[in-house]
Amino acid sequence: MMDRVQDTIEILKTYHQEHIIKLLNKLEGKAKEELIDQIGKIDFHQIMELYDNTKKEIKIKENKIENIPYLDKAKLTKEQKEQFDKLGETAIRNGEYAVVTMAGGQGTRLGHTGPKGTFKLDVYGKGKYLFEILAENLKEANRKYGVTIPWYIMTSKENHDETEAFLKKNNYFGYNAKNVIIFTQSELPLIDTRGKLLINKNNKIKEASDGNGGTYSSLRISGCLADMKEKGIKWIFIGGVDNVLLKMADVTLLGMAIQKNVQIASKSVVKANPHEKVGVFCKMNGHPKVIEYAELPEKMAEETDTNGELKYGESHIMCNLYTIEAIEKVSKEHLMYHSAFKKNSYIDENGREIIPDTPNSYKFESFIFDAFEFFDDIAILRGKREDDFAPVKNKEGVDSPKTAKELYEKYWKRH
Ligand code: UD1
Repeated sequence: MMDRVQDTIEILKTYHQEHIIKLLNKLEGKAKEELIDQIGKIDFHQIMELYDNTKKEIKIKENKIENIPYLDKAKLTKEQKEQFDKLGETAIRNGEYAVVTMAGGQGTRLGHTGPKGTFKLDVYGKGKYLFEILAENLKEANRKYGVTIPWYIMTSKENHDETEAFLKKNNYFGYNAKNVIIFTQSELPLIDTRGKLLINKNNKIKEASDGNGGTYSSLRISGCLADMKEKGIKWIFIGGVDNVLLKMADVTLLGMAIQKNVQIASKSVVKANPHEKVGVFCKMNGHPKVIEYAELPEKMAEETDTNGELKYGESHIMCNLYTIEAIEKVSKEHLMYHSAFKKNSYIDENGREIIPDTPNSYKFESFIFDAFEFFDDIAILRGKREDDFAPVKNKEGVDSPKTAKELYEKYWKRH
């Protein structure tokens, strides 16, 4: 134990984390061991590098950026659509298709306490939970294609227990429990503006989910990828938890990917306005790429083509499809991290909890779409907003429960 303590102190000294040495010296027994274990798992070199990067500017302009080709679902010929649908349907019927829902996020922006999937949207009087809406979408596909699509749900450490208990209590919304596989994403420490890791209430270093880009490696580490291989899965759909019109088993998208022989595919919708908070597709240095809304330069956001349409108007709606080989490949790559400057409470050197009024620390997240640049090509199918995209993000205004309810009820009136 003595050696372990000493080694840990050395690491902390190297990375100027003296406040944690103080904490360590105060602790005893199990609490001390747990903190040492946690420190042993942290890649300090990586965290300090990410911290240094917060001081550098993102240089999108130095790269060669072009707009990206796509196929418009509404403009496919009858033959083309039938060909895609048949290819997609056959793959699903053959049991080659699995779905992943990224549900690591909390409904903070929405003002919902708890996992976002447990938010109830006020539809048809009785209301439906976001998880329920997703389950219904998959059950419909199962009925249509005579299979049970394996459904993998990614939680975060923060919301895992609550999510699991919620799904169990609701009997997985009628989904066969054997086919619902829950796995958890990883975390990274939070760091303040002086490069010091935050201390949590439980005498540990404060960590938070490392973004939805962690899905790939978490699929591998959790054993889900091996499970998929064993099941003979060839195609994996990865989607978010908060779009109530998300089509998780779209045979046209799948068939298009098969026909085009690509490793990755995605559905887009046209951006509603230049400043809509969605990532946009483009090609960067010849590779597919999504530029996130917070990082898109204003000029690019507003740029139009010769037809007067937005040049970067293909929105990423978190409706992504991969071959199993593609997942395997990116699960071993290091995705870049983006930093977000946020308010995070912590314990100060006197053991007091500080709840800041203004942002005080950095959270590092990798984004799911940053894996696209590891591929030469992506097949994009442009869908329709009224059929494919009704996100529940904000408490009020755009992308709120009110707008999602309207879109959802309108859609189901038409179908
Ligand atoms: C996201 C996309 C954006 C897209 C928009 C469409 C990212 C980074 N951005 O933005 O390009 O246009 O959706 O609606 O993906 N999640 C986890 N773990 C995490 C963080 C998030 O599982 O650590 C999940 C959430 O539960 C949710 C999804 O990822 O299902 C989207 O995350 P969120 O942070 O809400 O992204 P947006 O800002 O909405």
